[in-house]
Amino acid sequence: MDILSKASPSNGSGSPRVVGFYEPVTGSCQYIVVCEATKKAALIDVVLNFDTAAARTSTEHAQWALDYIERKGLELEWILDTHPHADHLMASAWLKERTGRPTAIGEKVRDIAGLWRELYNMPDVFVPDVDFDRLFAHGDTFRIGDLEGRVLLSPGHTLGSITYVVGDAIFAHDTFMQPDAGTARCDFPGGSAKALYTSLMAILDYPDETRIFIGHDYGTDDRETPAWESTVGEQKAANKHLGGGTSEAAYVELREARDATLGLPKQMLHALQVNLRGGRLPKPEADGNSYFKIPANRF
Ligand SMILES: [Fe+2]
Repeated sequence: MDILSKASPSNGSGSPRVVGFYEPVTGSCQYIVVCEATKKAALIDVVLNFDTAAARTSTEHAQWALDYIERKGLELEWILDTHPHADHLMASAWLKERTGRPTAIGEKVRDIAGLWRELYNMPDVFVPDVDFDRLFAHGDTFRIGDLEGRVLLSPGHTLGSITYVVGDAIFAHDTFMQPDAGTARCDFPGGSAKALYTSLMAILDYPDETRIFIGHDYGTDDRETPAWESTVGEQKAANKHLGGGTSEAAYVELREARDATLGLPKQMLHALQVNLRGGRLPKPEADGNSYFKIPANRF
């Protein structure tokens, strides 16, 4: 499988090399964050490939990331996610099984798990404190070699999404999209356009040259090739939903109107029950197979 990838070089000490790679079925942008000085690395938002019709998982993208790490002589430190994704399955559990490295996500995944326990009518499932090795709070820091990572709580797309800031790179997941595409949707359970506006503004407070790496790109009518890197300055000047300054009220109106036109992601009801288990399939039944549970007429 040919995998589209692109490296964004380090801008010097304290600045990571960022290798983005792209999963076309769900338009997901995934990252390998590298400390050039120590050759330590972290993975962010790596996808577990999923054929929805067959309910079959595979690991082309996660394997590509591990092959890259090996080829470049890197040592993996962290397996990170920004939120329990609604449009794709996360590869974290598989990556941990392969590497033994710790997984992490934001601590408010506990609240998101509560919402979905109810939606699936599965009161006893999803135990984030067990399913992830670390639950980050706003302001927490961590290391990737000599690089410092910092966690921002960025609610809006979900109530517990986090942003990772590593040196001059911001991993903004589903907050911003590319400037020509705008911002992420807020209409999933626990989402809020008003909260997203505040989260977007907090990211725009960083210096103009700060790099922003996003979670999704689907191209646009004028741009076929996927892209995932921009800067704070570019987003401030030209973001389709915010560029040049949009008020909170105008943004909320625009966001909610657009969200009302969007269908649900094809993998959503499969994805959440895997992602809220840290990327594990539902516990196998007596016959050794895993089964998904899909609520009918709930959405
Ligand atoms: Fe998402």
